[in-house]
Amino acid sequence: SAAEKGGYDYFMLKEIAEQPKAVADTLLGRIDAAGSLTLDEVRIPPGVLREVDKVVIVACGTAFHAGLIAKYAIEHWTRIPCEVELASEFRYRDPILDPQTLVIAISQSGETMDTLMALRHAREQGSKVLAICNTNGSTIPRESDAVLYTHAGPEVAVASTKAFLTQLVACYLVALYLGQVRGTKWGDEIRAVVRDLSQISGEVERVLGTMEPVRELARTLAHKNTVLFLGRHVGYPVALEGALKLKELAYMHAEGFAAGELKHGPIALIEEDLPVVVVVPSPRGRSVLHDKIVSNIQEIRARGARTIVIAEEGDEAVVPYADHLVRIPVTPTLLQPLVATVPLQVFACELATARGNEVDQPRNLAKSVTVE
Ligand code: AGP
Repeated sequence: SAAEKGGYDYFMLKEIAEQPKAVADTLLGRIDAAGSLTLDEVRIPPGVLREVDKVVIVACGTAFHAGLIAKYAIEHWTRIPCEVELASEFRYRDPILDPQTLVIAISQSGETMDTLMALRHAREQGSKVLAICNTNGSTIPRESDAVLYTHAGPEVAVASTKAFLTQLVACYLVALYLGQVRGTKWGDEIRAVVRDLSQISGEVERVLGTMEPVRELARTLAHKNTVLFLGRHVGYPVALEGALKLKELAYMHAEGFAAGELKHGPIALIEEDLPVVVVVPSPRGRSVLHDKIVSNIQEIRARGARTIVIAEEGDEAVVPYADHLVRIPVTPTLLQPLVATVPLQVFACELATARGNEVDQPRNLAKSVTVE
């Protein structure tokens, strides 16, 4: 009913709008006044976490994209090698697992069969499993050694939005907590990131307030058949997520690529007026990556692409090559996905509406996939 949708036309719109609160709720009570992480609910003793020598993340779909982003954070802040694998591929290749492996299973519903089978397999090999889940008491957390709940509230729309942002927050918390427990040399950076993280909900809110041009743009592209997404570093999984949202909602051919791979094949797809969304890393800090992506934008534009550039406020270098420019707030590189994903969600939702598709219940899809 309209009341359930909180006055929005679709659950998806409501859930997109709820993201600042979902993010804040997922942080709530997990950072103390001194800026330390208090994840007592993660009932894996610090002694065990100090012995972990490998992290393996298993998930499907959007949750898998959260895992891909988590890898950058975990490896950077903890120096523990981290692999991310589609749950449906994981157990069939006899992965190397032992009691020093920490497996993280990410699932909104907690009922995804592939993810459940992957974690069962990991526990049989003696690995510890930490679930990141949005549904209290669901099967995946019940069968795990520990759980960190995302506090997104019920997600009804089939296309995941607020659950994704809170999965990212939970992954950052786990990464920072592992860093804290193990006392890595990134102590100062970890404290700074914790501060930035506690402000990020306000930044998500700010992005939501600037989405009208994105909706307008989506409407002008409703007749297109293909949209490509490019990103680098954590922007690469964001590109994958943008493409997945578009497939699910707009039933358009959409693909995400690592920008550095362009020359190895995908650039052959570029043709006159093809919309290409580019997620640009911050020009600060990792400026090498930034410069490389700016030349990628130049290259595709020279071949006729219609460039839709998502770039940080104050990034002037992209301006000459952007047919459409979407500004996002300045954030630390690793946290950028929390703000960069939002325009892609809005874009896909509006395209679906413009194409007359059922936003909350896309064809052929179920909210949770409980068969293998
Ligand atoms: C996301 O928009 C999808 N509907 C889908 O990829 C989903 O993320 C995937 O099925 C995993 O679901 P889960 O998080 O409930 O395990």
